[in-house]
Amino acid sequence: MSKRLGVIWDADPHTIAKIAILKNYLHAWFRILGKTRHGQTLLYVDGFAGPGYYKNHAEGSPLAALNTAIGALEDLGPTCSAREIHCAFIEKEKLRFEEMREAIEPFVGRPSLGVTRVHGEFVEGIAEVRSLVPGPFRGEGPLFVFADPFGGTGIPFATFAECMQAESAELLINLDADGIGRIFAAESNNGRDAQLDELFGSDCWRERLTARGDMKRLSVQILDLYKERLRTLPKVRFIWSFAMRGKGDVLNYHLVFASKHQLGLMKMKEAMKQIDGSGAYSFSDAHVNQHALFQTDDATVFAEELFRRFDGEEVPMEEVTLFALNETPFVNAKAMLSVLDESGRLQVQAHPGKKLRAGSFPEERIRAIRFGRFATTGRQAVLGL
Ligand SMILES: C[S@@+](CC[C@H](N)C(=O)[O-])C[C@H]1O[C@@H](n2cnc3c(N)ncnc32)[C@H](O)[C@@H]1O
Repeated sequence: MSKRLGVIWDADPHTIAKIAILKNYLHAWFRILGKTRHGQTLLYVDGFAGPGYYKNHAEGSPLAALNTAIGALEDLGPTCSAREIHCAFIEKEKLRFEEMREAIEPFVGRPSLGVTRVHGEFVEGIAEVRSLVPGPFRGEGPLFVFADPFGGTGIPFATFAECMQAESAELLINLDADGIGRIFAAESNNGRDAQLDELFGSDCWRERLTARGDMKRLSVQILDLYKERLRTLPKVRFIWSFAMRGKGDVLNYHLVFASKHQLGLMKMKEAMKQIDGSGAYSFSDAHVNQHALFQTDDATVFAEELFRRFDGEEVPMEEVTLFALNETPFVNAKAMLSVLDESGRLQVQAHPGKKLRAGSFPEERIRAIRFGRFATTGRQAVLGL
């Protein structure tokens, strides 16, 4: 265990923000699934649980999750149709594990709430949780895995791939792209190749990580490759990451979210938006330099990204929405399409028999968007009227 931090340490503002995002997301996850997953277990696994709380903050991720679960069960009352909410916590350091075990003891034995605590490494811990609560790993109930390690080791891609076999599995990973970049740069380190193979689940990194000596670009390559690897998993179509930066724009880490369900990503974005970027930390996109997410001018900035991606093409509306979800802070493409519409850079193709109003972009009525430079804007840009 790192002597610098000890068993319990002070949380930085970005750590507190990360916990708040997790809480906001779980708030929605427990409530939506608690109502709809009749007779099933909702399983939340915290793979790197820590001691449960911080010196300066009452809730680490374990207490945050359990308080949220209790709140959801109380709110749902008789409308809860799920069998139980089960929260599992894995921690490898003995003293932190003991601290966490004690901190969450008051939650053990409550009705409709299961609690599992595992002292051990993430990989073995997941296997143990799987043997204790197998349903969600077989698709009988939703599974949400939060992996929040220090640095870039201890998170084998194969373990995430196994978890994501389940029909309703989701992941939130704290990906330390800078730390992984440092592993990559240490070419003389004997264990380095095996570490990177394990992290990416193959040796794809040998070809793809080319930005030697340019840590910033390397970090973006690592993040992009990692997301690409997640995209290879069955039905994982919704993947989004955001960088969390501390004071002085120092990058802390990327949170990477992966889901098979559009609603999951929409709720994760809402969970972030509820957090006030007070200046002590900010969210940003790895590709849009120095640009904080969720500023008022975002639609303009990301509209240009959208246009660059599809200029000259006719694109099914579903693909445009997928771009908005996966590549921008928005939950749909409407604000960006408005910006492009106003500058005559799109035409809209409605589904047969569907009418469209100028300047509105209802997803269910639009078949495709054509991107380019046109003489018409607004109503005239709607084809087929
Ligand atoms: C960043 S802290 C977790 C903080 C916690 N998620 C929170 O938000 O309150 C990482 C924790 O993972 C533990 N850890 C490190 N490597 C691990 C591994 N391979 N398996 C399980 N736990 C590990 C560390 O001891 C540490 O407590």
